[in-house]
Amino acid sequence: MVPSIIHIIFGVAGSGKTTIGKLLAKELNIPFYDADDFHPEANILKMSNSIPLEDIDRMPWLEKLAENITNWQKGKGAVLACSALKQKYRDILQSGSISKINWIFLDTDERIIQKRLETREGHFFRKELISTQFETLEKPKSGIFIDATQELEQVMSQIKSQLITKKSQLGLIGLGVMGKSLSKNIVSKGFGLSVYNRHVENQEVDVAKTFVEEFEENTNVIGFDDLSSFMNSLEQPRTIVIMVHAGKAIDEVIESILPLLAKGDCVIDGGNSHFKKTIEREQLLLKQGVGFLGVGISGGEEGALKGPSIMPGGTKEAYLRAGVFLEAIAAKDKKDKPCCAYIGPQGAGHFVKMIHNGIEYAEMQTLAEIYHLLRYHCNQDPIQISTIFDSWRRNKKDSFLLEITIDILRKKEGDVFLIDKVLDKAGQKGTGGWSTIAALELGVPLNTISEAVMARNLSGLKSRRVETSLLYNIEKTPVKEEINTFIDILEDAFLVTNIINHAIGFDVIAKASDEYKWDLRMSEIARIWTNGCIIRSNLMEEISELFIENNNTPLLLFPQIVKSLSRGVPALKKVISSAVIANCAMPVMSSAINYFLTHSSAQSSANIIQAQRDYFGAHTYQRVDREITEFFHTNWKTQ
Ligand code: 6PG
Repeated sequence: MVPSIIHIIFGVAGSGKTTIGKLLAKELNIPFYDADDFHPEANILKMSNSIPLEDIDRMPWLEKLAENITNWQKGKGAVLACSALKQKYRDILQSGSISKINWIFLDTDERIIQKRLETREGHFFRKELISTQFETLEKPKSGIFIDATQELEQVMSQIKSQLITKKSQLGLIGLGVMGKSLSKNIVSKGFGLSVYNRHVENQEVDVAKTFVEEFEENTNVIGFDDLSSFMNSLEQPRTIVIMVHAGKAIDEVIESILPLLAKGDCVIDGGNSHFKKTIEREQLLLKQGVGFLGVGISGGEEGALKGPSIMPGGTKEAYLRAGVFLEAIAAKDKKDKPCCAYIGPQGAGHFVKMIHNGIEYAEMQTLAEIYHLLRYHCNQDPIQISTIFDSWRRNKKDSFLLEITIDILRKKEGDVFLIDKVLDKAGQKGTGGWSTIAALELGVPLNTISEAVMARNLSGLKSRRVETSLLYNIEKTPVKEEINTFIDILEDAFLVTNIINHAIGFDVIAKASDEYKWDLRMSEIARIWTNGCIIRSNLMEEISELFIENNNTPLLLFPQIVKSLSRGVPALKKVISSAVIANCAMPVMSSAINYFLTHSSAQSSANIIQAQRDYFGAHTYQRVDREITEFFHTNWKTQ
């Protein structure tokens, strides 16, 4: 067992030992003791009568304290306020100790103490004794010296920045929901952690301190609202995780820590930042010799706490430094490997996380569409739908999103399903839209994902939808098929849509890998998505295995996938046609079938597009009967 640390705050009476000791103990979340409380009655009586204590009086008291110190070391540790004026008293206190004591000396001035004691009431110590105290005091030769004539706030900040003899291995900035959960995860893995949260008057006050106080089970975390003390508390070279909102807030944090960073430090952005911003930030920090990792972290609050899926991008050197922490806190895959692996240089980690979210958007929308179809066109209530979904989970179609949707459907508020109380307007923070923009820039399709973004946008037009519904009066009619047969068909259609959606997502990742020369490993990306993240699923496990066979094969071209889709596509077509006839919108599922039909057509309709472009804009076209390098223009007018 490693003994816990005992901090002894010492100095003359009136130097602030008790106040400072209590504050420090609160900060460190360990007990506080006042040595005065251990004095035998006889000593207290002497002191109250202004009779100075002899060494003989002090001995039993110091020995008792020494004994307690040993016990506290076996527990959580402690802060002890004790005058300990002479070296020999300090030696006694140290004597039974099973590890080194942290000595914090409050250095002060006799006149200031006199003044303080004049205003102090209700304490047995008489101010006349103060000169004796200064006469007796033997200033220590080592330990932490604190100028106790300063304001309390400065004293505390000085102590905090100096006292931590064991510097923290990791620092974390930003104690929002994700930051807090990730901090708990980091500490639970045995890492010493310093956390910092900014101070914003009336809004973010003592956030770090309060967090540390609530953190009962561990003393391996220390909180700061003063940036330089936080930076000083970290082992060098430092590793700092930033967990603040993506966007301006990240730049503000980087700007504020930049002057305090040293060559060799490593900064990690664990938010959903745009990959292009990550590239810029990496450049900025590298100029100063500071490593930077843009790290996608998926799994929400629970994932961050119990083990998320982690997608780090940046230099290999930076990953060598910080990877050990990230891998330790990540979820584990089926083979007990961490769901964290170096993704690639620059913004690769954040790009991959962005596409993860794109896939997530489309998977969520697929489930929403199926629910809606079953509920309003197949006469199934939420419990019945949850039972159907449950059977799909058992049929190797399990996924985190399916699992949580079942919980959602079963949640009641009184007699009412809570889902019926939820307003049908979907929010979004941007990653789905960014995926769409990225696909447009890369010139690749993103059908299911972009359609899911548009479905959220369309859901946002609530009042317009209500108005239109009154004008068109479109009736929700029942699906004609026999319900059990239809549920089986729906199950196949669900799988097919998911496969197509994943194929689209992995294709855009492959394109980015080529375009930006990131050399991404598809199998590893899929593997770290098999646990911890929002899109973990049985399908993801299969995809990871497939990409081991060949990193460069598009998903839809693997023979195993060809087999599954050939079997399942008729089901998706059936579902879409039945749904449309019943007036049920299926934007993502129908985009999946349209994508598939186009993707698997040797002859597309685009010859007409090319001819039209050439007709009105002389944009030229290529011919199937000539070299691909040749371009033609025709006067298409026939009369
Ligand atoms: C995750 C999630 C997480 C978050 C997204 C989605 O992987 O843990 O994707 O990052 O839920 O920000 O947000 P929106 O749906 O609000 O865009």
